[in-house]
Amino acid sequence: MPLEITARTSLCLIIGDPVSHSLSPAMHNAAYAHLGIQFVMGAAHVTPEGLVDAIKGVRALGIRGLAVTMPHKVSIMPLLDAVVPTAQAIGAVNTVVVENGVLTGFNTDWLGILRPLEQRTPLKGKAVALLGAGGAAQAALHACQSQGASVTIFNRTIEKAKTIAERFGCAVLPLTDVMELGAFDIIINTTSVGMDPNRNQSPIPQSAICKHHIVFETIYSPARTQLIQMSEAVGAQTITGLEMFLEQGAAQFQLHTGVKAPRAEMEKILKAALGR
Ligand code: ATR
Repeated sequence: MPLEITARTSLCLIIGDPVSHSLSPAMHNAAYAHLGIQFVMGAAHVTPEGLVDAIKGVRALGIRGLAVTMPHKVSIMPLLDAVVPTAQAIGAVNTVVVENGVLTGFNTDWLGILRPLEQRTPLKGKAVALLGAGGAAQAALHACQSQGASVTIFNRTIEKAKTIAERFGCAVLPLTDVMELGAFDIIINTTSVGMDPNRNQSPIPQSAICKHHIVFETIYSPARTQLIQMSEAVGAQTITGLEMFLEQGAAQFQLHTGVKAPRAEMEKILKAALGR
C-alpha cells in the first residue's frame, strides 16, 4: 500500500551532516506504508552550528521523532529534556521521541550490536575484541558488558582507547597486536577501515581470523566488506553491518510509533538499496 500523507500524518526526521546518503527514510517509510500507519520520515541536513535552532524547530513544528546521525549524537544530549539511562551510559543519542512536547533521547545502536550477537551465541563469559574506539565502539561496549562479556579494545590511537576503557572498565591493546586475537571468541569492527571508497582495506589481516571467531562488521557500505569476505574464507561466522543497521532501525521504529517493526519489509528495502 502506498504511503498516504494527510494533515494528521506524524512527522519524523533524520538529522545529520551529511544526511543525503542515509537509508533511514527509505527503510522507515517502507515500514510505515507496509503497516498502513500515519507516519512519514524525511531527512534534514543540519550542520553543527544549526543544531540548537533545529531542536527549537522540532519543538515548534510538533515533530514526532528524530533519528540522529553523525555528528550530532553527542552534542544533541544537553538540548533534550531527558535522556534515558542506557543512552547516558553509552554517551550518545541516536533516537529522539517527542511526547506532549517533551523531547526524550534514546540509543538503539547498542541493540543493533546486541540482537544479532545474541542470536548466534550467549554473550556471558565471552571474550570480545573490539576494534575501534569511536561512538560505535561505545555502543558495542555497552551491549557486550550488559550481557557479562569481557571486552578488550584494540585501537590505532591508544590514548583515545584508554579514555573509553577507563569509563567502561576494560583492557586496551594496540590495533597492531593482531596475534592476540586467537584468544578471543568475538571480533567486532567499529573502525571505518574498509568503508567505501576504501573497500579493499581491512583493519586486520586474514591470518588473524580463526574459524572459531564470530566476526561482526558494523560497516554496511559495501554490504560485504573485505573483513567479511576474509572471515567467510576462513570459515568464521559473520554478521554484517546491514544486520546492525536493521536492528537499530527496528528498535527506533518501535520507539517512534509504538508499533513492532516489520523487519522483513525493512530488510528487503535495505538489501535493494545496498545492492545485495
Ligand atoms: P564512529 O563514531 O562512527 O565510531 P569515529 O569516532 O570517527 O567513528 O571512530 C573511528 C574509529 O576508526 C577510531 O577508532 C579510529 O581510530 P583512531 O582512534 O586511531 O582514530 C578508527 N580508524 C579510522 N581510520 C583508521 C585507520 N586507517 N586505521 C586504523 N583505525 C582507524
